[in-house]
Amino acid sequence: MSRVVVLGGTGEMGTALTQVLRGRGHDVVAASRATGVDATTGAGLDGVLSGADTVVDCLNHVTVSRRTAVSFFGGAAGRVAAAAGSAGVSHVVCLSIVNAADPRVRRAMGYYAGKAAQEDAYRSGPVPVTLARTTAWFSLAETFLGQLRVGPVALVPGMRLQPVHPAAAADFLADAVEAGPGGGRAAGERQLAGPEEHDAAAMARAVARARHPGVKVVRLPLPVAALREGLLPRGDVEVDPRRFADWLSEA
Ligand SMILES: NC(=O)c1ccc[n+]([C@@H]2O[C@H](COP(=O)([O-])OP(=O)(O)OC[C@H]3O[C@@H](n4cnc5c(N)ncnc54)[C@H](OP(=O)(O)O)[C@@H]3O)[C@@H](O)[C@H]2O)c1
Repeated sequence: MSRVVVLGGTGEMGTALTQVLRGRGHDVVAASRATGVDATTGAGLDGVLSGADTVVDCLNHVTVSRRTAVSFFGGAAGRVAAAAGSAGVSHVVCLSIVNAADPRVRRAMGYYAGKAAQEDAYRSGPVPVTLARTTAWFSLAETFLGQLRVGPVALVPGMRLQPVHPAAAADFLADAVEAGPGGGRAAGERQLAGPEEHDAAAMARAVARARHPGVKVVRLPLPVAALREGLLPRGDVEVDPRRFADWLSEA
């Protein structure tokens, strides 16, 4: 059993990961501004990391502004890495997104520039890091219906994705925590995807049909290939077999 701090532990993935880790017998602290830990100001970081073996960064700030994303993700990662080093934490797991480090992707999308800054800050920090990158989770289709909504219409980009079940992402992160900083596939970087390619707008349409019949989805064609295809995984990827249709039929 180890002591794990999950930053962003009250968010979607932080909550799921906290549950998985506790189920595996770890001592987990779920931290966020709601519990008095602010990764933007640094408030509460030293205290929460004291005595921790591992810290997992599940922080998020939704923005399309490159400057805001780089400042939030890069700044928070720098502060967390420094505080983790001072506290003697032995391993950082950073929840990232596949291809965040690809220069074409980070140039095309401000949010991904922020994720790239986050990865860079941990890579150059004092504590060994595992960059645990996943593709979009199936639940992103539901998030789109809320975030990209104008009245009854959701404007969803025609992006190609190879999305993954959110429960698989939580297991993947827990595996990275347990593998530690030096071991096997956890060393450095690992990637997770689902079994099938999907169009983001078609996924959102399927969620609307099943769960939000009043919402109409309009697909926005994307002219730039880095946007349209840039989030498909490349290279060495672990694939979880659970399908979008399975997730859709879950309660
Ligand atoms: N959605 C996807 O498909 C997907 C795929 C791959 C990777 N990811 C990555 O997964 C990560 C987590 O995403 P999510 O959707 O689970 O996030 P989320 O639900 O938006 O939760 C964000 C968490 O961060 C905390 N937080 C925000 N600002 C903070 C601050 N200044 N200090 C401390 N805590 C702060 C929030 O709690 P408080 O508000 O209480 O502070 C909350 O616990 C993101 O980095 C995202 O890039 C997402």
